[in-house]
Amino acid sequence: MEKLVIEGGKPLSGSVRIHGAKNAALPVLAASMMAAGVHRIGNVPDLLDIHVMLDILRALGCKAELKDDVVTLETSSANSSHVPEELMTQMRSSIFLMGPLLSRFGHVQVYQPGGCAIGERKIDLHLKGLQALGATIEESGNTITCRAERLKGTDVSLDYPSVGATENIMMAAALAEGVTTISGAAREPEIQDLQNFLNSMGANMIGAGTDTITIEGVESLTPQAYRVIPDRIVTGTLMVAAAVTRGNVTLENVCPPHLTSVIHVLKRAGVQIATRDDIMIVNCSARPKSVERIITSPHPSFPTDLQAQMMVLLSLADGISVMKETVFEGRFKHVDELTRMGADIRVDLSSAFIRGVPRLYGATVEATDLRAGAALVIAGLAASGTTIVEQVHHIDRGYDRIENMFGRLGAKIERFSPVRQLKVP
Ligand code: UD1
Repeated sequence: MEKLVIEGGKPLSGSVRIHGAKNAALPVLAASMMAAGVHRIGNVPDLLDIHVMLDILRALGCKAELKDDVVTLETSSANSSHVPEELMTQMRSSIFLMGPLLSRFGHVQVYQPGGCAIGERKIDLHLKGLQALGATIEESGNTITCRAERLKGTDVSLDYPSVGATENIMMAAALAEGVTTISGAAREPEIQDLQNFLNSMGANMIGAGTDTITIEGVESLTPQAYRVIPDRIVTGTLMVAAAVTRGNVTLENVCPPHLTSVIHVLKRAGVQIATRDDIMIVNCSARPKSVERIITSPHPSFPTDLQAQMMVLLSLADGISVMKETVFEGRFKHVDELTRMGADIRVDLSSAFIRGVPRLYGATVEATDLRAGAALVIAGLAASGTTIVEQVHHIDRGYDRIENMFGRLGAKIERFSPVRQLKVP
């Protein structure tokens, strides 16, 4: 297993370009299955999860290649609606293929998806939505089979604004007969990106970004060149890293309106942030201040995907902060690791109480999931001494060579694979 070795305590400085959004690229790639032909999708990050999606598309009969940041995808040759189990269980986003494959082939066979171990991640809302559109669903053990001659538009009301369920239903409804209205929809920027992509191919939908999306089904879609949005979670990770190392960084290819709640919270912590078009400058010359209470919840509130990273900043802030996690239970696995680095955090159910300490200290820690892993890297960058982050494959699911990204900003961070000798100080 690969490790990252970080010599901390150096302020980050310089500029770095933010890669495309994993969480936008994955549904866009899945949606490409609904239009036979050649797709060119730009600003796609070179990440483990993207490669799993490309492997799935190949297993379905497509030709797929990622070169520089462009995916070229030939979907005419697709001849299967069965997502192989070993690929399905590698990544939760494989569930996005249900809607598109059902639309294209009239049937789909998938398995319970995998993904980060951040708590129970049900798919009942995906299944209920597809059922409402007329699909019959059979569950047998781990296998899920859906069938529908042609889906029919209807009103779908989501009990919770699930990002993935909203996206799956949008995709299925794009080619359904008649009008579908999704109420209680998730409002994340990635949902607006999916709407833009589908509409560019000839779909007819409005409302993404609000809690009601209306989709008038069309007969067919045609491939169009598309470019996905920048990754707001990678941007937020770098913003926090700049702040905790007391650095000064310029982030390029960002979309500031996607980060309004994050900018607000960081400014309350005393971080200076300036934005102009797609550029953001973040600096923090003094110790951050505590933030009384942060609550993660669906967009536009503070994102759960930045909770762990923000907790590093609060661990080093002057004062006591409370972080309440409402999206996923069990998303505090980084707390034990941060505590081993000297943080003072107490967890009570879904709230973490954080008493800021002046300094964190290097330690050997384990990335338990994607964002927890990113948080430990940030903690290592801010800490005194050497930090070793193990289980780096979790981080590779969402950050394109994180060590290069921070290396460009002057950080001392290196990756060691098992074959390479690691000198432990
Ligand atoms: C997406 C993001 C993920 C992010 C999450 C919340 C992608 C590829 N991933 O994941 O990075 O952390 O949104 O912002 O876009 N739920 C149900 N039933 C369902 C579906 C979800 O109960 O059918 C629950 C989940 O267990 C969870 C909550 O809803 O507690 C949020 O999940 P959801 O919004 O669906 O997240 P994902 O789409 O999986």
